[in-house]
Amino acid sequence: MRILLGITGGIAAYKAADLARLLTHQGHQVRSILTEAGARFITPLTLTSLTGGPCYGANPDQGEWRANPSIEHIELARWADLVAVVPATANIIGKAANGLASDLLSTVLLATRAQVLWAPAMNTGMWEHPAVQANLARLRTFGHAVVDPGEGVLACGEEGSGKLADLLTIAEAIQFHGTPKLSSLIGRRVLITAGPTREDLDPVRTLTNRSTGAMGIELARAFRDAGAKVQLVLGGDLPAPWGLETIRVRSAQQMLEACKAHWPQADGLVAAAAVADQRPESPSTQKVKKVEGTEMLSLVRTPDILAQLSSQRRPGQWVIGFAAESEDHLVHAMAKLQKKSLDAVLVNDIQDGQAFGAQANTLIPVTDQGPQPALGPLPKDQLAQAVVQWWAQRLGAGPV
Ligand SMILES: Cc1cc2nc3c(=O)[nH]c(=O)nc-3n(C[C@H](O)[C@H](O)[C@H](O)COP(=O)(O)O)c2cc1C
Repeated sequence: MRILLGITGGIAAYKAADLARLLTHQGHQVRSILTEAGARFITPLTLTSLTGGPCYGANPDQGEWRANPSIEHIELARWADLVAVVPATANIIGKAANGLASDLLSTVLLATRAQVLWAPAMNTGMWEHPAVQANLARLRTFGHAVVDPGEGVLACGEEGSGKLADLLTIAEAIQFHGTPKLSSLIGRRVLITAGPTREDLDPVRTLTNRSTGAMGIELARAFRDAGAKVQLVLGGDLPAPWGLETIRVRSAQQMLEACKAHWPQADGLVAAAAVADQRPESPSTQKVKKVEGTEMLSLVRTPDILAQLSSQRRPGQWVIGFAAESEDHLVHAMAKLQKKSLDAVLVNDIQDGQAFGAQANTLIPVTDQGPQPALGPLPKDQLAQAVVQWWAQRLGAGPV
């Protein structure tokens, strides 16, 4: 995505440098505009060094970092897929809400047809002032997105609201608002399971597996960014993603109950969780004491969540399962597809340390037409986007 980052004159401007670095690392092209007040807090050199892209400013005499002397504001306004103002002062919010164009950033904001996103940061008194709130409400009516500030101790020493939102949250909001929505997924409810389940032996010990939940979380983000309404049923410890409903669970039984509560309203299911197949037959409420010699642990089957949800589906609901296999993966996947009446199985080859905990992964979709071209190897975020594109195309082509 081509992101134009506007940085205005608030003390949180130093955090914009970190955001610029983060967005660049995520693979976005980043250019920046510093207002005159913004340039008192951080320098163009910081931004050009971190992004590899030019930094523009209000002052035409600022030398080599003023890259394009010809109708700069229009070129920038056209270049951007998304303009993010981080941090946004009360001043720039007021100017943009009222159509003022008195410097490069405010002029670009008026000229651009790209999505605009605001991350305000200011003293609590300023933030709560009706003028600022009315200006933000006006910006929302233009279709602009606002990432509200959080609460905390502010640079001025006051404690309250007005603190710049967390940078990861801002980056997720940028990703969401800057991603084109896919017609076959807009407004569709997608239920996604992710992460490991945990089956307790006693209050201390637990049976689990090596899944982290990263792939399922990236799928949840990718469906969210494509316009779906996502409900994520999540095991494990990874943080819940921004902008969707997360239901945290521990055991397979809890995952089943959470899924059953949401499945009737959903349009589709992506079952990416690594559900434990067995649980201890009689978990102990007290810590089990060690004994000498061999010990036996009696295990029983956990519920088959995917099979149950698939068998209870109503017409029009689609179901995608996952298979993590270390041998004959396509044969196993085809068998799973047929046995559980799925629309697709995404196969992970878990040999050579792929899949669990790995950064990059490959998935082979298997449908009733057999194995489809492999997706990846790609980092998990891009792989999830590829899965969503592939599935949205199939959905768009007609009923599954
Ligand atoms: C030390 C200092 C910190 C400031 N912090 C903020 C701030 O966090 N939020 C804000 O809206 N204004 C803040 N201001 C006021 C703005 O810098 C001022 O309104 C300026 O005109 C904003 O210009 P700009 O919107 O073009 O960047 C601060 C001013 C100073 C001197």
